[in-house]
Amino acid sequence: MTNPHKVHVKTFGCQMNVYDSERIAELLAHLGYAETAAVEDADVVVLNTCHIREKAAEKVYSDLGRIRAIKERRRELGRNTLVAVAGCVAQAEGAEIVRREPSVDVVVGPQSYHRLGALLARANAQRVPMIDTELPEKDKFAALPARALPVSGAGAPSAFLTVQEGCDKFCTFCVVPYTRGTEYSRPVADVEAEARRLVDRGVREITLLGQNVNAYHGAGSDGRPRSLADLIGRLSRLEGLKRLRYTTSHPRDMRDDLIAAHRDEPKLMPYLHLPFQAGSDRILAAMNRKHTRADYLALIKRIRAARSDIALSTDVIVGFPGETEAEFEATLALLNEVSFAQAYTFKYSPRPGTPAAAMEQLPDDVKDRRLQRVVEVVEASQTAFNTSCVGSVLPVLLERPGRHPGQLVGRSPFMQSVHVSADSSFCGHVVEVEILAASANSLTGTLTSAT
Ligand code: SAH
Ligand code: SF4
Ligand code: F3S
Repeated sequence: MTNPHKVHVKTFGCQMNVYDSERIAELLAHLGYAETAAVEDADVVVLNTCHIREKAAEKVYSDLGRIRAIKERRRELGRNTLVAVAGCVAQAEGAEIVRREPSVDVVVGPQSYHRLGALLARANAQRVPMIDTELPEKDKFAALPARALPVSGAGAPSAFLTVQEGCDKFCTFCVVPYTRGTEYSRPVADVEAEARRLVDRGVREITLLGQNVNAYHGAGSDGRPRSLADLIGRLSRLEGLKRLRYTTSHPRDMRDDLIAAHRDEPKLMPYLHLPFQAGSDRILAAMNRKHTRADYLALIKRIRAARSDIALSTDVIVGFPGETEAEFEATLALLNEVSFAQAYTFKYSPRPGTPAAAMEQLPDDVKDRRLQRVVEVVEASQTAFNTSCVGSVLPVLLERPGRHPGQLVGRSPFMQSVHVSADSSFCGHVVEVEILAASANSLTGTLTSAT
């Protein structure tokens, strides 16, 4: 084939969307579409969207405006372009997307994208938009083609693997239970088969994904549910796999066997992302988080008792409806008390259909001020954690070329980005790196020996 069809996939949002985009690209590769980074060259454009905050969702429409212009230019050249909106905006807004942006041909939700090929074909043949936002759809994974092996050489050394979908927690600020549906865990055997396939294509580190990954309860071979710790135990036996991680966890689902795995399982990296969202019990209750400040602190204590050097990460929302200055201070105090290695901070964004959107909102300037203060605290604790690593030797999985020639970037066990001067042949290897310098967001080091 001299001129194969091309697809451009753009991803917004969380790691689960990154994973879904990979599966979408692999699905379309089966149908003869090669991936292109140039949207102008694409016969099919897929936007895999995020609905978590207003900004993320609005970005989709500005992109669609640009894509419409490209579609029109291509039409003048006699070339057809199909535009698909996938992901959480697709699920939340459905047909409304086509009303706002008529150049969209397909709208497909996160639980039905395995049907994308058929939807594109039908939209193309019938010249009418196709909308598929069925929920829940439990056989998506079974309907997708097996993970592709790279055409030549080894693929990327680190990969995501979704093991759990959806959420039943209904935090009052959050759209995820509506866009991803109810909680569902993939069977252990399916996850194992996919992990083996990833290792065969050169993957050395797998991050297990789920909106509530530590609530994982997939069926084992006898049909009985297995915990995330059980799953990690099985996957750690895979030869060639060097590292395991998982994200995102909910404090309520952090069970003893998972905490113990951080002590007992050498392949499980000493890093845990455990969002607490707010430091005040009144706000936590209004958020329907199902944990208190004291619960969270007690949990951190148990985790650190099992693995004293674990790097902790979290998510924080400032400016939730009704949050007083004192309640905001409680969030700052909790951040300082735990001293996180990393934290993601968000200004509360009202989302349509969620209970908190109907509550009385705080003015934007209050939210902005609080965000600025929380960012300063987080930067200080990230810098402190990274600086504490200077002088030590850390095993780093080198993943990709850095910005400068002769430089590679990898990850420490604690999830820090590490920049190292090293030959590209070290890519995909775990190497010992002496850490020389630190900033709020990364480390720089020098190779001591290859392992
Ligand atoms: N499943 C994960 C969170 C997924 S969303 C968990 O339960 O922790 C990622 C983060 O986005 C959340 O942790 C929260 O901090 C933030 N977030 C979610 N909804 C938001 C909203 N309406 N406004 C601002 N931030 C929000
Ligand atoms: Fe959203 Fe809460 Fe579920 Fe996390 S636990 S996905 S924040 S509803
Ligand atoms: Fe966004 Fe959906 Fe992920 S709303 S954060 S892409 S689950």
